[in-house]
Amino acid sequence: MSQSLATVAYLGAAILFILSLGGLSNPETSRRGNLFGMIGMALAVLATVFGPRVSPSGIAWIVIALVIGGGIGLYAAKIVKMTQMPELVALMHSLVGLAACLVGFASYVDTSVQFSGAEKAIHEVEIYIGILIGAVTFSGSLIAFGKLAGRIGGKPLLLPGRHWLNLAALLVVIWFGKQFLNAHDVQAGMTPLVVMTVIALLFGVHMVMAIGGADMPVVVSMLNSYSGWAAAATGFMLNNDLLIVTGALVGSSGAILSYIMCQAMNRNFISVIAGGFGSGAPKKAATGDKAAEPQGEVVPVSAAETAEMLREAKSVIIVPGYGMAVAQAQHTVYEITKTLREKGVEVRFAIHPVAGRMPGHMNVLLAEAKVPYDIVMEMDEINQDFPDADVAMVIGANDIVNPSAMEDPDSPIAGMPVLEVWKARHSIVMKRSMASGYAGVDNPLFYKDNNRMLFGDAKKMLDEVLGGLKG
Ligand code: TAP
Repeated sequence: MSQSLATVAYLGAAILFILSLGGLSNPETSRRGNLFGMIGMALAVLATVFGPRVSPSGIAWIVIALVIGGGIGLYAAKIVKMTQMPELVALMHSLVGLAACLVGFASYVDTSVQFSGAEKAIHEVEIYIGILIGAVTFSGSLIAFGKLAGRIGGKPLLLPGRHWLNLAALLVVIWFGKQFLNAHDVQAGMTPLVVMTVIALLFGVHMVMAIGGADMPVVVSMLNSYSGWAAAATGFMLNNDLLIVTGALVGSSGAILSYIMCQAMNRNFISVIAGGFGSGAPKKAATGDKAAEPQGEVVPVSAAETAEMLREAKSVIIVPGYGMAVAQAQHTVYEITKTLREKGVEVRFAIHPVAGRMPGHMNVLLAEAKVPYDIVMEMDEINQDFPDADVAMVIGANDIVNPSAMEDPDSPIAGMPVLEVWKARHSIVMKRSMASGYAGVDNPLFYKDNNRMLFGDAKKMLDEVLGGLKG
């Protein structure tokens, strides 16, 4: 393939990636967005493999790598459960970071291309920054994977003077950067490069370890952004325009998503980038997976009573959360919605921006179950309507409906906007036990006078509620 044909293919791929991102911004166009992304990526891979920069003897190696990598990716995508997607994504981000580090070191020791003067300095800056971003992304994403998979506790690790530690690390990285650029040969430059890599790896670990459970969504989207910048840095090192454009697209869209998440969680964007936010020494620290201390009496309710309350309601707001995803209850939720609407009950869904374990988690599940988009509302669109609702039915959600975020300034989730379900005439919380949610915080909603608890697996309970509604 000639250089000009490869350039045209790269341009086509870049346009398809932009169309893909545009499509992904709306559930109705997201399938098309995915398709554009897949075609764009296929085009990019073909143009790279058969492009002028790969020698015919190298193609065999690339095909072997493609088959192994593609096979692992296909297998992982096939076996992963929807609730494990964020962990898989975090793991994949770590691979982007690792790739940036490896490409950086390879570019540095590669003597086949000789640079001199300003070009050499620019190339070395690209390598240094590329490895720096790659290493932070790699170790930070691995820790995020551990936290999301529940292998590392959700409690924030707060080292004394952590901001000073971060500042000192930054200064050391800058100083070693100077040593690296002044090095006369590869051997002399290797020491500062390796020291910086170790510091960057430690910073990545420190940054994510310092994040409290409820604030993980922002970190996940931020690492997504970092992985984009790591890919862009790799593009600079390899002199590959498409990688630069694609990395910048991922980096900037991830940064915008992080900003939106920060606003949704009422967190400060800058303190997220610096690492260790949402951890201002709360008196009640997150307790990980353990159930929090009970704070009063709860009133249990049966599935038959729930069906009765729903049947008598004029307006119902359903709040889905992580438990609905675990129970795979979305199809029964849809059946209940259909039955209630046929009986003339107004049913709407309230979606919190961080419900579940990844951005858009609930929207994807509800779309899969064919719930009409026009009754699925974002938090800002529906939060003021709870006082007019007869029943707010919470399905496997916890942190996103926790009033202590608004009422208790010492709570680890203080300041996070939540769905105000307790303002409805009745709220019903469907979950298996009194266990806390992801943030490990007790939920005063459960003890409110107008709240009822429907204990049990969401799918099983909803099947019984549906039976009660139809019977
Ligand atoms: P959570 O606060 O995690 O609460 C989910 C609840 O579902 C749990 O209390 C659990 O209680 C219940 N549950 C689990 N399995 C169930 C089942 N089979 N049937 C019925 N209930 C079940 O979820 P949420 O309210 O959706 O809030 C999301 C949390 O995750 C937030 O803290 C958010 O910051 C965090 N987070 C979000 C993201 C993104 S991007 N969305 C990423 C990382 C972290 P039982 O065990 O008693 O059943």
